[in-house]
Amino acid sequence: MSSENLHVPREVLSREGRLLHHAITSLKEELDAVDWYRQRADDTEDEELKQVLLHNMREEMEHAAMVLEWIRRNNKEFEGFLRTYLFTEAPIVEVEHAAEGKETAEEAGRLGGRSGTAAPGSGVDEFTIGSLKGK
Ligand SMILES: [Fe+2]
Repeated sequence: MSSENLHVPREVLSREGRLLHHAITSLKEELDAVDWYRQRADDTEDEELKQVLLHNMREEMEHAAMVLEWIRRNNKEFEGFLRTYLFTEAPIVEVEHAAEGKETAEEAGRLGGRSGTAAPGSGVDEFTIGSLKGK
């Protein structure tokens, strides 16, 4: 495995930092591949080649999703943000405002009986009530 993108000596990295580096590097490579296949597919006039390239692009999407899931399972901070933003329907900035509002309220102890964990991004279902879910 290549480590040419390390910004510090490998020996100072924690196990968590080293593994996250590998996962992030792999995710970037998979997303680059998606982009490259998509562009080449758009730029070919040969229909069969286009279909092969699009097929390959979809496989790279699968690879990216698998790596992202590994990151979610192994990094609590990422998991919190993924839980906040993925598979929501409200405008994304509104999701952020709702999440930040909840964190601020919980930090100040002003939730008045509402329970919930205060981890960043967690418990999004609890506060995306009413207007956010209806959109
Ligand atoms: Fe791949």
